[in-house]
Amino acid sequence: MMPGRLDGKRAVIVGAGQTPGETIGNGRATALLFAREGAQVVVVDRREDSAAETAAMIADEGGRAEVVVADISSEDECRRLVSEVVEMLGGIDILHNNVGIGAGDAPPHHLEADVWDRIMDVNLKAMWMTCKHVIPVMREQRSGAIVNVSSTAAIMAANNLTAYKISKAGVNALTQQVASGNAKYGIRANAIMPGLMDTPMAVDAAAAATGRKRDEVADVRARAVPMGHQGTAWDVAYAALFLASDEAQFISGVVLPVDGAQHTQVG
Ligand SMILES: NC(=O)c1ccc[n+]([C@@H]2O[C@H](COP(=O)([O-])OP(=O)(O)OC[C@H]3O[C@@H](n4cnc5c(N)ncnc54)[C@H](O)[C@@H]3O)[C@@H](O)[C@H]2O)c1
Repeated sequence: MMPGRLDGKRAVIVGAGQTPGETIGNGRATALLFAREGAQVVVVDRREDSAAETAAMIADEGGRAEVVVADISSEDECRRLVSEVVEMLGGIDILHNNVGIGAGDAPPHHLEADVWDRIMDVNLKAMWMTCKHVIPVMREQRSGAIVNVSSTAAIMAANNLTAYKISKAGVNALTQQVASGNAKYGIRANAIMPGLMDTPMAVDAAAAATGRKRDEVADVRARAVPMGHQGTAWDVAYAALFLASDEAQFISGVVLPVDGAQHTQVG
Protein backbone atom coordinates (compact mmCIF):
# COMPACT_ATOMS: atom_id res chain seq x y z
CA MET A 1 0.00 0.00 0.00
CA MET A 2 1.22 3.52 -0.84
CA PRO A 3 2.07 5.61 2.25
CA GLY A 4 -0.59 8.21 3.07
CA ARG A 5 0.22 11.89 2.70
CA LEU A 6 -0.91 12.47 6.31
CA ASP A 7 0.34 9.25 7.91
CA GLY A 8 0.69 9.64 11.67
CA LYS A 9 -0.98 13.08 11.80
CA ARG A 10 -3.66 13.96 14.32
CA ALA A 11 -6.16 16.19 12.54
CA VAL A 12 -9.01 18.16 14.06
CA ILE A 13 -11.65 19.14 11.48
CA VAL A 14 -14.02 21.75 12.88
CA GLY A 15 -17.35 21.83 11.07
CA ALA A 16 -16.96 18.30 9.70
CA GLY A 17 -20.66 17.51 9.72
CA GLN A 18 -22.72 18.98 6.94
CA THR A 19 -25.84 20.73 5.79
CA PRO A 20 -28.13 17.98 4.42
CA GLY A 21 -28.37 17.80 0.64
CA GLU A 22 -27.57 15.88 -2.54
CA THR A 23 -23.84 16.58 -2.72
CA ILE A 24 -21.01 16.43 -0.17
CA GLY A 25 -19.95 19.46 1.92
CA ASN A 26 -16.43 20.88 2.22
CA GLY A 27 -15.91 19.83 5.83
CA ARG A 28 -17.08 16.25 5.37
CA ALA A 29 -15.04 15.75 2.17
CA THR A 30 -11.93 17.09 3.93
CA ALA A 31 -12.43 14.77 6.91
CA LEU A 32 -12.85 11.76 4.58
CA LEU A 33 -9.81 12.67 2.49
CA PHE A 34 -7.57 13.31 5.50
CA ALA A 35 -8.54 9.91 6.92
CA ARG A 36 -7.91 8.22 3.55
CA GLU A 37 -4.42 9.76 3.62
CA GLY A 38 -3.66 8.21 6.99
CA ALA A 39 -4.62 10.91 9.49
CA GLN A 40 -6.34 10.14 12.74
CA VAL A 41 -9.33 12.47 12.46
CA VAL A 42 -11.37 14.22 15.12
CA VAL A 43 -14.72 15.23 13.66
CA VAL A 44 -16.00 18.35 15.44
CA ASP A 45 -19.45 19.82 14.93
CA ARG A 46 -22.19 21.37 17.00
CA ARG A 47 -24.58 18.83 15.44
CA GLU A 48 -23.92 15.42 16.92
CA ASP A 49 -25.93 13.44 14.33
CA SER A 50 -24.10 15.00 11.43
CA ALA A 51 -20.66 14.57 13.04
CA ALA A 52 -21.46 10.94 13.84
CA GLU A 53 -22.47 10.37 10.21
CA THR A 54 -19.10 11.68 8.97
CA ALA A 55 -17.24 9.51 11.51
CA ALA A 56 -19.25 6.46 10.43
CA MET A 57 -18.38 7.11 6.77
CA ILE A 58 -14.68 7.24 7.72
CA ALA A 59 -14.96 4.02 9.76
CA ASP A 60 -16.73 2.30 6.83
CA GLU A 61 -13.70 3.09 4.68
CA GLY A 62 -11.36 1.61 7.29
CA GLY A 63 -10.19 4.97 8.70
CA ARG A 64 -10.00 6.24 12.27
CA ALA A 65 -12.29 8.98 13.55
CA GLU A 66 -13.45 10.31 16.89
CA VAL A 67 -16.35 12.71 17.42
CA VAL A 68 -16.32 15.78 19.66
CA VAL A 69 -19.51 17.82 19.84
CA ALA A 70 -18.84 21.52 20.40
CA ASP A 71 -20.30 24.91 19.49
CA ILE A 72 -17.17 26.89 18.72
CA SER A 73 -18.90 30.25 19.13
CA SER A 74 -18.40 29.68 22.88
CA GLU A 75 -14.84 30.06 24.16
CA ASP A 76 -15.47 27.54 26.93
CA GLU A 77 -16.41 25.00 24.27
CA CYS A 78 -13.23 25.75 22.29
CA ARG A 79 -11.14 25.27 25.43
CA ARG A 80 -12.93 22.00 26.27
CA LEU A 81 -12.66 20.73 22.70
CA VAL A 82 -8.90 21.24 22.62
CA SER A 83 -8.30 19.63 26.02
CA GLU A 84 -10.48 16.64 25.08
CA VAL A 85 -8.51 16.09 21.89
CA VAL A 86 -5.17 16.42 23.65
CA GLU A 87 -6.29 13.96 26.28
CA MET A 88 -7.46 11.54 23.59
CA LEU A 89 -4.58 11.79 21.12
CA GLY A 90 -1.73 13.45 23.00
CA GLY A 91 -1.45 16.43 20.64
CA ILE A 92 -2.76 18.16 17.51
CA ASP A 93 -0.84 18.24 14.23
CA ILE A 94 -3.55 19.75 12.01
CA LEU A 95 -6.39 22.16 12.74
CA HIS A 96 -8.79 22.56 9.81
CA ASN A 97 -11.30 25.36 10.44
CA ASN A 98 -14.27 24.81 8.10
CA VAL A 99 -17.15 26.42 9.98
CA GLY A 100 -18.87 29.26 8.14
CA ILE A 101 -22.44 30.54 7.91
CA GLY A 102 -24.20 33.20 5.88
CA ALA A 103 -27.94 32.89 6.51
CA GLY A 104 -29.75 36.20 6.84
CA ASP A 105 -26.93 38.29 5.37
CA ALA A 106 -27.98 41.35 3.34
CA PRO A 107 -26.62 44.54 1.74
CA PRO A 108 -25.30 47.06 4.29
CA HIS A 109 -28.48 49.17 4.35
CA HIS A 110 -30.72 46.13 5.00
CA LEU A 111 -28.62 44.02 7.37
CA GLU A 112 -29.96 43.49 10.89
CA ALA A 113 -27.45 44.02 13.73
CA ASP A 114 -28.16 40.63 15.32
CA VAL A 115 -27.43 38.88 12.00
CA TRP A 116 -24.14 40.82 11.70
CA ASP A 117 -23.23 39.68 15.24
CA ARG A 118 -24.10 36.03 14.59
CA ILE A 119 -22.16 35.78 11.33
CA MET A 120 -19.13 37.60 12.77
CA ASP A 121 -19.20 35.47 15.93
CA VAL A 122 -19.34 32.17 14.06
CA ASN A 123 -17.16 32.92 11.02
CA LEU A 124 -14.45 35.08 12.54
CA LYS A 125 -14.43 35.21 16.34
CA ALA A 126 -14.95 31.44 16.66
CA MET A 127 -12.16 30.73 14.15
CA TRP A 128 -9.83 32.98 16.11
CA MET A 129 -10.83 31.15 19.32
CA THR A 130 -10.07 27.66 17.96
CA CYS A 131 -6.67 29.00 16.83
CA LYS A 132 -6.15 30.65 20.23
CA HIS A 133 -6.58 27.35 22.10
CA VAL A 134 -4.72 25.14 19.62
CA ILE A 135 -1.65 27.39 19.23
CA PRO A 136 -0.21 26.66 22.73
CA VAL A 137 -0.45 22.91 22.01
CA MET A 138 1.33 23.32 18.68
CA ARG A 139 3.94 25.69 20.19
CA GLU A 140 4.77 23.08 22.78
CA GLN A 141 5.18 20.47 20.02
CA ARG A 142 7.06 23.04 17.91
CA SER A 143 5.00 21.90 14.92
CA GLY A 144 1.52 22.17 13.50
CA ALA A 145 -0.50 23.22 10.45
CA ILE A 146 -3.65 25.32 10.50
CA VAL A 147 -5.95 25.61 7.47
CA ASN A 148 -8.75 28.19 7.60
CA VAL A 149 -11.63 28.11 5.13
CA SER A 150 -12.31 31.62 3.83
CA SER A 151 -14.18 32.52 0.61
CA THR A 152 -13.56 34.41 -2.63
CA ALA A 153 -16.36 36.65 -1.32
CA ALA A 154 -13.58 38.24 0.77
CA ILE A 155 -12.02 39.76 -2.35
CA MET A 156 -14.81 39.88 -4.96
CA ALA A 157 -17.88 42.03 -5.42
CA ALA A 158 -20.76 40.46 -3.51
CA ASN A 159 -23.36 43.19 -3.27
CA ASN A 160 -26.00 41.15 -1.47
CA LEU A 161 -23.58 40.25 1.31
CA THR A 162 -22.05 42.29 4.12
CA ALA A 163 -21.19 40.33 7.25
CA TYR A 164 -20.17 37.18 5.36
CA LYS A 165 -17.77 39.06 3.07
CA ILE A 166 -16.25 41.09 5.90
CA SER A 167 -15.92 38.05 8.18
CA LYS A 168 -14.05 36.18 5.45
CA ALA A 169 -11.75 39.17 4.80
CA GLY A 170 -11.09 38.93 8.55
CA VAL A 171 -10.30 35.21 8.19
CA ASN A 172 -7.64 36.07 5.60
CA ALA A 173 -6.08 38.63 7.97
CA LEU A 174 -6.36 36.25 10.93
CA THR A 175 -4.51 33.59 8.93
CA GLN A 176 -1.64 35.96 8.10
CA GLN A 177 -1.48 37.10 11.73
CA VAL A 178 -1.31 33.53 13.05
CA ALA A 179 1.27 32.61 10.39
CA SER A 180 3.62 35.51 11.06
CA GLY A 181 3.57 35.29 14.84
CA ASN A 182 4.02 31.53 15.01
CA ALA A 183 6.45 30.71 12.19
CA LYS A 184 9.38 30.50 14.60
CA TYR A 185 7.49 27.91 16.65
CA GLY A 186 7.10 25.58 13.67
CA ILE A 187 3.43 26.41 13.13
CA ARG A 188 2.09 27.15 9.64
CA ALA A 189 -1.27 28.78 8.89
CA ASN A 190 -2.86 29.07 5.46
CA ALA A 191 -6.30 29.90 4.13
CA ILE A 192 -8.37 28.57 1.24
CA MET A 193 -10.84 30.76 -0.59
CA PRO A 194 -13.40 28.46 -2.23
CA GLY A 195 -15.31 30.03 -5.09
CA LEU A 196 -18.64 28.68 -6.27
CA MET A 197 -18.78 25.08 -5.08
CA ASP A 198 -21.60 22.58 -5.59
CA THR A 199 -22.22 21.93 -1.89
CA PRO A 200 -25.53 21.63 -0.02
CA MET A 201 -24.75 24.72 2.05
CA ALA A 202 -24.36 26.87 -1.04
CA VAL A 203 -26.78 25.36 -3.55
CA ASP A 204 -29.60 23.58 -1.66
CA ALA A 205 -29.77 26.32 0.99
CA ALA A 206 -29.92 29.06 -1.67
CA ALA A 207 -32.61 27.15 -3.56
CA ALA A 208 -34.67 26.71 -0.40
CA ALA A 209 -34.25 30.35 0.63
CA THR A 210 -35.34 31.74 -2.75
CA GLY A 211 -37.91 29.11 -3.78
CA ARG A 212 -35.96 28.25 -6.94
CA LYS A 213 -35.12 24.75 -8.22
CA ARG A 214 -31.72 23.31 -7.28
CA ASP A 215 -30.72 22.92 -10.96
CA GLU A 216 -31.60 26.52 -11.68
CA VAL A 217 -29.38 27.80 -8.84
CA ALA A 218 -26.57 25.44 -9.87
CA ASP A 219 -26.80 26.63 -13.47
CA VAL A 220 -26.57 30.34 -12.60
CA ARG A 221 -23.56 29.63 -10.39
CA ALA A 222 -21.83 27.52 -13.07
CA ARG A 223 -22.17 30.32 -15.62
CA ALA A 224 -20.39 32.75 -13.28
CA VAL A 225 -17.24 30.59 -13.21
CA PRO A 226 -14.63 31.07 -15.99
CA MET A 227 -14.23 27.27 -16.18
CA GLY A 228 -17.97 27.02 -16.88
CA HIS A 229 -18.79 24.73 -13.97
CA GLN A 230 -18.87 24.84 -10.18
CA GLY A 231 -16.19 23.19 -8.11
CA THR A 232 -16.90 20.43 -5.63
CA ALA A 233 -16.04 19.90 -1.98
CA TRP A 234 -13.24 17.59 -3.15
CA ASP A 235 -11.46 20.52 -4.78
CA VAL A 236 -11.37 22.26 -1.40
CA ALA A 237 -10.37 19.02 0.34
CA TYR A 238 -7.40 18.40 -1.98
CA ALA A 239 -6.12 21.96 -1.49
CA ALA A 240 -6.47 21.50 2.27
CA LEU A 241 -4.65 18.17 2.09
CA PHE A 242 -1.64 19.79 0.43
CA LEU A 243 -1.55 22.76 2.81
CA ALA A 244 -1.95 20.54 5.88
CA SER A 245 0.72 18.05 4.77
CA ASP A 246 4.51 18.28 5.11
CA GLU A 247 4.65 18.79 1.33
CA ALA A 248 3.77 22.43 2.15
CA GLN A 249 6.39 22.73 4.92
CA PHE A 250 7.77 26.06 3.62
CA ILE A 251 4.35 27.57 2.83
CA SER A 252 2.67 29.75 5.42
CA GLY A 253 0.48 32.84 5.37
CA VAL A 254 -0.89 32.02 1.93
CA VAL A 255 -4.51 32.68 0.91
CA LEU A 256 -5.25 30.23 -1.90
CA PRO A 257 -8.24 30.66 -4.22
CA VAL A 258 -9.88 27.37 -5.30
CA ASP A 259 -12.35 28.86 -7.73
CA GLY A 260 -11.90 27.85 -11.39
CA ALA A 261 -10.12 31.20 -12.05
CA GLN A 262 -12.99 33.35 -10.81
CA HIS A 263 -10.69 35.69 -8.86
CA THR A 264 -8.96 36.60 -12.12
CA GLN A 265 -12.06 38.68 -12.88
CA VAL A 266 -10.99 41.13 -10.16
CA GLY A 267 -8.49 43.91 -10.85
N1 LIG B 1 -19.94 26.02 -0.79
C1 LIG B 1 -19.44 27.11 -1.29
O1 LIG B 1 -19.74 27.51 -2.43
C2 LIG B 1 -18.49 27.92 -0.45
C3 LIG B 1 -17.86 29.00 -1.04
C4 LIG B 1 -16.97 29.73 -0.29
C5 LIG B 1 -16.70 29.38 1.01
N2 LIG B 1 -17.34 28.33 1.58
C6 LIG B 1 -17.02 28.02 2.97
O2 LIG B 1 -16.95 26.61 3.18
C7 LIG B 1 -17.29 26.33 4.54
C8 LIG B 1 -18.51 25.43 4.66
O3 LIG B 1 -18.50 24.38 3.82
P1 LIG B 1 -19.41 23.11 4.03
O4 LIG B 1 -19.88 22.75 2.68
O5 LIG B 1 -18.69 22.07 4.81
O6 LIG B 1 -20.66 23.65 4.91
P2 LIG B 1 -21.67 22.84 5.78
O7 LIG B 1 -22.71 23.81 6.22
O8 LIG B 1 -22.11 21.62 5.02
O9 LIG B 1 -20.81 22.35 7.03
C9 LIG B 1 -20.43 23.21 8.05
C10 LIG B 1 -20.65 22.53 9.37
O10 LIG B 1 -20.33 23.49 10.39
C11 LIG B 1 -21.20 23.25 11.47
N3 LIG B 1 -21.29 24.44 12.32
C12 LIG B 1 -21.93 25.59 12.08
N4 LIG B 1 -21.81 26.43 13.12
C13 LIG B 1 -21.05 25.79 14.04
C14 LIG B 1 -20.58 26.13 15.34
N5 LIG B 1 -20.87 27.31 15.89
N6 LIG B 1 -19.84 25.23 16.02
C15 LIG B 1 -19.55 24.02 15.48
N7 LIG B 1 -19.98 23.65 14.26
C16 LIG B 1 -20.71 24.51 13.54
C17 LIG B 1 -22.54 22.90 10.85
O11 LIG B 1 -23.34 22.15 11.75
C18 LIG B 1 -22.10 22.09 9.62
O12 LIG B 1 -22.15 20.71 9.86
C19 LIG B 1 -17.68 27.64 5.18
O13 LIG B 1 -16.59 28.20 5.87
C20 LIG B 1 -18.08 28.47 3.97
O14 LIG B 1 -18.05 29.83 4.24
C21 LIG B 1 -18.23 27.60 0.87
